[in-house]
Amino acid sequence: MERFKVKLEVNGESVELDIKPSETLLETLRDRLELTGSKDGCGLGACGSCTVLLNGLPTRSCIVLTAELDGSEVTTIEGLADGTKLNPVQESFMEKGAVQCGFCTPGMILTAKALLDRNSQPSKEEVIRSISSNLCRCTGYKKIVEAVEAASSTETPTT
Ligand code: FES
Ligand code: FES
Repeated sequence: MERFKVKLEVNGESVELDIKPSETLLETLRDRLELTGSKDGCGLGACGSCTVLLNGLPTRSCIVLTAELDGSEVTTIEGLADGTKLNPVQESFMEKGAVQCGFCTPGMILTAKALLDRNSQPSKEEVIRSISSNLCRCTGYKKIVEAVEAASSTETPTT
């Protein structure tokens, strides 16, 4: 079967991969690079649990083919902390109790991070709209929205 050479920057590190055409970014991250923070919920682009930042934009990694991503930058939840110092969005989710089973949390945090990078002071409506397609079966969203709002005062825009 035909294979593709793909270079990616994942969490600041350069990786070179030999990829079959059908391999999704989620498979690459979880199965090859052992970055299992991105969760495989539906595999259909519907739940948001696999969300990563692809060139800074929140992207459902289960419906993106790695073979098409040569030269791209990917940030997963594992790349968000600065050493042992958590990103303000991660801190805020912990402080506000916005995590229960945690399955949706990596995708939710990366979606929130992308929002705060482009708008450091979003309204509640903007927060709700931004996370509305990331599904959470546990928290009822109230604490997640509170966590993103709390992080908005401490988050430093990166773009
Ligand atoms: S696992 Fe990708 S959107 Fe559900
Ligand atoms: S915390 Fe369980 S799905 Fe969101």
